[in-house]
Parts: sequence; structure tokens; C-alpha cells
Amino acid sequence: MDPSLWRDEFPLAKATIYLNHAGVAPWPRRAAEAVTAFAEHNVHHGASNYSHWLETERRLREQLRQLINAPASDDIALLKNTSEGLSFVANGIAWSAGDNIVISAEEFPSNRIPWEALQPRGVAVRQIELLHGHPCPEQALLDACDGRTRLLAISSVQYASGFRVDLDLIGTHCRNHGILFCVDAIQTLGALNFDVSACHADFVVADAHKWMLGPEGIALFYVNSAIREEITLSEFGWHMTQDPNDFDRKDWRPADSARRFECGSPNLLGVHALSASLSLLHEIGIAAVSRIVLNNTSYLTDTIIQHSDLELRSPAQPAHQSGIVSFRHRRHLSETLYRKLHAEGVVCAIRGGAIRFSPHFYTPRDQLDRALELVTDC
Ligand SMILES: Cc1ncc(COP(=O)(O)O)c(C=O)c1O
Repeated sequence: MDPSLWRDEFPLAKATIYLNHAGVAPWPRRAAEAVTAFAEHNVHHGASNYSHWLETERRLREQLRQLINAPASDDIALLKNTSEGLSFVANGIAWSAGDNIVISAEEFPSNRIPWEALQPRGVAVRQIELLHGHPCPEQALLDACDGRTRLLAISSVQYASGFRVDLDLIGTHCRNHGILFCVDAIQTLGALNFDVSACHADFVVADAHKWMLGPEGIALFYVNSAIREEITLSEFGWHMTQDPNDFDRKDWRPADSARRFECGSPNLLGVHALSASLSLLHEIGIAAVSRIVLNNTSYLTDTIIQHSDLELRSPAQPAHQSGIVSFRHRRHLSETLYRKLHAEGVVCAIRGGAIRFSPHFYTPRDQLDRALELVTDC
């Protein structure tokens, strides 16, 4: 697919080499237009057409359902960020002292701190080095599980190294051993295929502001419907009840659907923006997006491997590759290289001491070449 097709949606690509979709992504033009239209509607009509806005919210749940292949849009709650969803899981399970949770030692703090916060209750957190020499990193996680493991929590793609784990392998093991499986999918959704049914995840969480090209402050939270009622709720309000618009009603119960995790008024501004962004990704098709993202990665990886001054920090094996490519320069500090790239209009990040590139499907190939030229010419 020719990336110039998307020039109108991403005008920033004319002047900026944006390689930071694993950080905070730009919006496509249609997301900005949706927000402008929403704002204009507010200015002229207030909330007089609220039911129309709720239609967009319903559409968004369905778009998110499709993105993860969930059984029903009722399985999707809209939260404010990934950390909130992971905290709901941490606070919602009936832990006993002596239980343990298995995570990777390379997790982003959002997927470590909610579990560590359970330690005063006698829950141990086992942090497993994924990337240091184990021939099958997933097996290292599974080997750390025992009869007291209640939950295994992992990012589908590690934020610094870009390492993509085999979710189906881990999920199948968890399912067979009665271990709950929680996936932070923020570095996958919008970039790569994801199938919650195939990987048997009980929980999936992801904010919108990375590969989904949405705004910050709106996140997908999926809970397997078979265990939804077992999760103790930790936030309460009118909106999470079964009959949210019956304000006079004194008896209430949590909504049957995943809306039970949404305590109060929805973030309809975020809903409009994200729905527009996802409409673009669905138009292209996640399978096609995924192919382009992985092609970008192998293109960058091949060049880095061939250049003796550069040390690849992300996986060389295609099965573990994602949208993230990390590397170090053997003769220059990453900070120095980062400053040079920044001065030349390349937006990227330093993570784990390495330069992290994360282009998306619309990134023109000549921009990858320019960024590579800047790192190889020094
Ligand atoms: C793996 C991972 N999880 C979560 C987050 C962000 O969490 P939140 O949506 O709570 O801001 C990031 C951001 O870099 C991330 O890389």
C-alpha cells in the first residue's frame, strides 16, 4: 500500500519524521474533525442531541470489540487509561495471603505497580527476566508459575525492547492451570492483529493514544464475561448500574455488561475522537496495517544489523517483532544521538537506554531512510 494515500490524514508527515507511535501518536485529520464537530455542536446546541452522542459511543464499543475479536461489545468498558484498568483487576480479585502474580521484569510501571501495591496483603510479585538468554522467554514465565499463582500479567509487546510475546502459548497454559491471564495490549492494538478468544485472555487493557491514534484519557477494558461478576468493583456511581437513567430508583445493582466498570459520565469528547481514528484503521484493515508495520520493522532491523556501529536491542526473529525497533550506537550515547535526531525533525524516544523508533503504517519509506541515514552518518 502506498503511504502517500494517507498524506491528507497525516499532514505532519510533510515536515516531521514521526517515529513515536509507541509513545504518544498524532491523530489522523478525521479525529480532529470529529472533535471540532463535537465542539461546534456543543456551542450551538449543547447536549440537546445526547442520544446521538451515545450512538457514537455504541459504535466505538463495536469498533473496539472488532479490534480484539471479543465475543460482544457488552464485554468492553471505556475507562480513562491502562493503569485504571489494571488497578481494577488488582483490586477486584479476592486475594489470599500466599498468592502470587507472575509478570515480566521489563514491564512498564503501569503493569507492575498495581501488583506491587498488593504486597502488604501477602501477595508476592514474581518478576521474570524475559530477555536474558532463555531460549523460550514465554516458558520462563510459565516456569515461574506454581499452585499459588493466581494471575499472570504481561504486555503483549514490551515497551522498551519491542519484544512481542506468544500470547496464545501463555494463555493456553493459564487456561489449563486455572491462572487468570491479564494482557496490557497498548503496544499492540491498532498496530498488530490481536485475538482475545485465541489467546484466552481474561483481561485486556489499552489506552488509545499510541497505535490506535486516539487521544489520551480513553481506554479499552475487556473482562471475560464468564468471570465479570467475580471481580469486586472498586468505583461506584449512577452510570455503572443496570438502569442508569432511572434516577429515582433506590435499589440498584451493577450493570450486567462491562459498563459496571464505568462509574460516572462518559468521556464523550474522547469517544468521538477515538471512534474517528479507529474508523481509519478499520477502513484499511488491521491485517493490512499489521503487514505494513512489520515490514517497516524488518526494514529498519535489517539496516541496523548490517551496520557495525549499531547494536540492535529489539528482536531479530520475526515472530517476536512488533512496531518497535530499539538500538544503540556503539560510539555515541543514546542521549547524544537522540538530540541530533530531534534537531533534524525526527520524533522518537529513548527507552531502556536505547533509541526507540516506532513508525506506523502511514510512515513514508523515505522518512525511514532519512532517520537511518542520520544514525549511520555519525
Ligand atoms: C506497556 C505500557 N502500558 C501502559 C502504558 C501507559 O499507561 P496509561 O494508559 O495508564 O497511561 C504505556 C505507556 O508508555 C506502556 O508502554
